[in-house]
Amino acid sequence: MGWGDLGVYGEPSRETPNLDRMAAEGMLFPNFYSANPLCSPSRAALLTGRLPIRNGFYTTNGHARNAYTPQEIVGGIPAEERLLPELLKGAGYASKIVGKWHLGHRPQFHPLKRGFDEWFGSPNCHFGPYDNRARPNIPVYRDWEMVGRYYEEFPINLKTGEANLTQVYVQVTDAWAGRARGGRPPGRQAGQCLPQEALDFVRRQHAARRPFFLYWAVDATHAPVYASRPFLGTSRRGRYGDAVREIDDSVGKILSLLRDLRIAEDTFVFFTSDNGAALISAPKQGGSNGPFLCGKQTTFEGGMREPAIVWWPGRVPAGQVSHQLGSVMDLFTTSLSLAGLAPPSDRVIDGLDLLPAMLWGQLTDRPVFYYRGNTLMAATLGQYKAHFWTWTNSWEEFRQGIDFCPGQNVSGVTTHTQEDHTELPLVFHLGRDPGERFPLSFASPEYLHALRGLTLAVRQHQETLVPGQPQLNVCNRAVMNWAPPGCEKLGKCLTPPESVPEKCSWPH
Ligand SMILES: *[C@@H]1O[C@H](CO)[C@@H](O)[C@H](O)[C@H]1NC(C)=O
Ligand SMILES: *[C@@H]1O[C@H](CO)[C@@H](O)[C@H](O)[C@H]1NC(C)=O
Repeated sequence: MGWGDLGVYGEPSRETPNLDRMAAEGMLFPNFYSANPLCSPSRAALLTGRLPIRNGFYTTNGHARNAYTPQEIVGGIPAEERLLPELLKGAGYASKIVGKWHLGHRPQFHPLKRGFDEWFGSPNCHFGPYDNRARPNIPVYRDWEMVGRYYEEFPINLKTGEANLTQVYVQVTDAWAGRARGGRPPGRQAGQCLPQEALDFVRRQHAARRPFFLYWAVDATHAPVYASRPFLGTSRRGRYGDAVREIDDSVGKILSLLRDLRIAEDTFVFFTSDNGAALISAPKQGGSNGPFLCGKQTTFEGGMREPAIVWWPGRVPAGQVSHQLGSVMDLFTTSLSLAGLAPPSDRVIDGLDLLPAMLWGQLTDRPVFYYRGNTLMAATLGQYKAHFWTWTNSWEEFRQGIDFCPGQNVSGVTTHTQEDHTELPLVFHLGRDPGERFPLSFASPEYLHALRGLTLAVRQHQETLVPGQPQLNVCNRAVMNWAPPGCEKLGKCLTPPESVPEKCSWPH
């Protein structure tokens, strides 16, 4: 989802009443960033509080390449990383992930081995359908075992865009309950397989008087974009808008449940996204990054600036805006702080505790780093952003129609060759020029002043940086989701091909 996709962020159709109300009752962060312009590294950063370059969610297979966890990936979240749900256990929290995990799908990376108590969702993106011969369909898990596969038990109709997944993620649906009762249960015992996802998890923890962490990681706005029938065709923005509306409606249901249970004032809720809208899918399946340049896959603002809303009635003052530079990694540190826990002290944590910003309007100077692979592409400090490298994608890809910046050619900035600016960075003032179109003049006092601060922040960062083992270098078709745990019970095990480790190919 992109910065410009919510009504409260200026989306012209104003189709997100629940998120807009969440903002009106809470605080908006207009300068909030993902940790990477791509899903897996950003999510790994959220759960570890550390940049992908530290936690290993990057590749060195090419210069400045984005990488993620397709089903042939061999790597995943390293055992040494401490994840938020693991740490929250120390304060008695129950944790659930609903939706996309994306931190590795091999058995050792299973979310229930990494601190989550419950999971409903899948390890990879909902791409497909596949033929189950060259590639298996992606499994959907309930806790330890798969309960079906996308395009099989969990249909996504690519023609109409219909899928019931967002409904399953938020509440028990008639469709799923009917299917489970109707003779072809997707799990062993139908009764146990009724999805009791976000809402039910909250109800159960409330009844048990247990503190909880719900990571509601839905993916309806990721291509192939989907929505359930009641939402299809209801948006002025097409199918992508239908998906946004359904997510908005679901957020509304989660917030109302917190109110109904009278735990709203004891529950901290944060809404954001893991990367900017994928303009490559625009306009039919892609969203809006508002006034920002380009989208997902790029280190321009459109690739990493995210919508961000915090809601904590009675604690975070209503209707406020914080100009704190924030990051998804801050949710790690802030959540630990809320639970009365300190972040691990034996490693560098990039996340900041945002409570002083949220509760007392305090602003902390901090840099934002934009990486592609292990290449530092850009950095922001205060209002200034410096680009050390510019690249969208190769001419070769671009000529094939792959465009991460459709309709936005900024000469010398949105380049199709990798341009090295490390000697003389391009510097933009993001307040006056959020679209990164007018680089500051190299000779100006403002340029020299801005660059001095940025150079210092980058030097401090790089001098102490110890990159993690890159996890996204090796691929192997044999590790795909052929026979996930639980497949025997469903008769859904497939035979893996011969093991052939290869360098993953990351074109951009
Ligand atoms: C979604 O659920 C409805 C019933 O509520 C059902 O008729 C429909 O077939 C389901 N669609 C998909 C794609 O699963
Ligand atoms: C963008 O504009 C520049 C200068 O006009 C031009 O050289 C370049 O080819 C354009 N790029 C694209 C992708 O059209």
